Amino acid sequence: MRVERKRVGVLISGRGSNLQALIAAAQVPDYPAEIALVISNRPDAKGLQHARNAGIEAKVIDHKGFGTRADFDSALIEALEAADVELIALAGFMRLFTPGFVAHWHDRMINIHPSLLPLFPGLDPHGQALAADVKLHGCTVHFVRDATDSGPIIGQAAVPVLPGDTAESLAARVLTAEHRLYPHCLRLVAEDRIRIEGERTAIQGDLSRNQARVLMNPPD
Ligand code: GRF
Repeated sequence: MRVERKRVGVLISGRGSNLQALIAAAQVPDYPAEIALVISNRPDAKGLQHARNAGIEAKVIDHKGFGTRADFDSALIEALEAADVELIALAGFMRLFTPGFVAHWHDRMINIHPSLLPLFPGLDPHGQALAADVKLHGCTVHFVRDATDSGPIIGQAAVPVLPGDTAESLAARVLTAEHRLYPHCLRLVAEDRIRIEGERTAIQGDLSRNQARVLMNPPD
C-alpha cells in the first residue's frame, strides 16, 4: 500500500545527528513522512551536508542577515511554505521564535529536548540533571508552545545516570535515546495518531506492547 507522506521541514543549527536519524527513518518506504527541506540559521552547520548527501534541499537562512526576529521568522515561513512543508521538526535549532511563528505552526511543529520535561528546560540540561542528582534522565519530544521547551508531550525516553557520569557521557547516552525517540514520535504525528485535548496528548492505537518493562536505577 502506498502511504501518503507528510512533508516535513527540519530546522537545525549544528551537528544534525537527530536530522540524520529522521532522514534514515524516512528512507524506509512505509514511513509516513518525507524530509522535504532542511534549513539552518548557521552557514557552518554540519547537518547541512547530511541533508545534501541524502539529496534533500538544504538552505541557509542566516539570522544575522535580518534586522528583527520577526523578519527572520517571516523568511523561514516563506521558505517552508514554498516547499509545501506541512510539519516542522526542530532538531537542535538554537533560535527563539516570535509568538507569531509559533502560532502559525500551532500543533504542526515539534521539538526534541534532552531531558525528561518539565524537568530541566533550557540550557545545559545534562549539567542540571547531574546537579539535581537524578538517577534517570532522558529526552522528550513535544509540540512547541511559546515558553522554551514547553508544550504537549508526545513521547519520552529514559536512560540511567551512572556513577562517574559527566555532562558529556550523559549527553551521549541520551543522544542514543533521542535517535530512537524522534523518528518514532514524528511517525505518530505524521500518521495523525496524536490528538491534543486541553494541552494534553492522547495517542490512538494499542500502546500496551512492551509496557511491562521497568527501568530502575540502581538496578535490582
Ligand atoms: C540534541 O541533544 C537535541 O535534543 C537538542 O540539541 C541537540 C542537537 O543535536 N535540542 P544534533 O544537532 O541533532 O546532533
